[in-house]
Amino acid sequence: MLEAIDALRADALTRIAAVDTADQLEAVRVGLLGRKGEVTGLLRGLKDVDAEARPAAGSALNRLKQDLTAALDGRENDLRGAAQVVTGLDLTLPGTAPVGLGSAHPLHTVLEEICDIFYGMGFDRGDGPEVELDYYNFTALNFPDDHPARDIQDTFFLSEDTLLRTQTSPVQVRLMEQLQPPLSYVFPGRVYRNENADASHSSEFFQIEGLCVDKDISLVDLRQTVESFIERFFGPGFATRFRPHFFPFTEPSVEVDMECMKCGGRGCGVCGQTGWMEIMGAGMVHPNVFKAAGYPEDAYTGFAFGMGIDRIAMRKYGINDIRLLYENDLRFLNQFRGVL
Ligand code: PHE
Repeated sequence: MLEAIDALRADALTRIAAVDTADQLEAVRVGLLGRKGEVTGLLRGLKDVDAEARPAAGSALNRLKQDLTAALDGRENDLRGAAQVVTGLDLTLPGTAPVGLGSAHPLHTVLEEICDIFYGMGFDRGDGPEVELDYYNFTALNFPDDHPARDIQDTFFLSEDTLLRTQTSPVQVRLMEQLQPPLSYVFPGRVYRNENADASHSSEFFQIEGLCVDKDISLVDLRQTVESFIERFFGPGFATRFRPHFFPFTEPSVEVDMECMKCGGRGCGVCGQTGWMEIMGAGMVHPNVFKAAGYPEDAYTGFAFGMGIDRIAMRKYGINDIRLLYENDLRFLNQFRGVL
């Protein structure tokens, strides 16, 4: 009798554990403890057991009944818990509302378009840190110690010698420290200036810089490159002009204007009635910059240019306030879905 009880306990516990619906569990319960159940059958057989062995068999059967009842109740609880996850509130399930796909930010769309044009002309792409050393942002670029751009009013200084870069030009020196000419690179990125924000100023904006260094690079190469870019990006037929300018890290330095896209050069509100729009700063790399990069004196010449991406994006999409590009307002951004 005791063996039969142990065998049934082991078998019944396995069956209970294997059950995974409430109906199956009920069937197992009836099969064990119901009127014609197996445990009930053993209880009935008790009367045939020897009188001496009967008390021990009786209490073993009671324990079996208790154990199986506990196992059945435990399993019932487990199943009820699992069912609740399916039918109740499960915050990990995906919602039923459609999930909108994101899209490229208009600034990045324009940035990639500009890069693509320069890749087509044989430029590679470089990168540099936004948290920059004063040395790369100013000193190595031939800014005198007392240059006004170093002023705390324009530059976000993080410490005496680190700052948020005010231009992408520091990447020029970082690249030349690593690479020997011939080299031609574009390096787009975010820059920072301590400006009061209004419709045309933001304390963060994007620039793309170009650098081309080799033996015998001249202003003609710069002009050719800039004009090819303007033609490919804005379309054919826009006149350009190079105005003398000053940057500490180029000599000679120029500002490049292109004919106003809006009025075709006749003069309008967009170009301040001049017929021209300033598009970039540029020039021939200053010998002191080559020196900072560790290049031998007089061995190379090169040109560099830098332009603001925000204003180009604004013109391209008819955006009249630069702050829209940085506020991440979905009502604005959703208008550029599917642009890239
Ligand atoms: N770094 C200059 C600016 O921010 C632009 C520039 C780049 C000018 C390269 C000349 C050469 O205004």
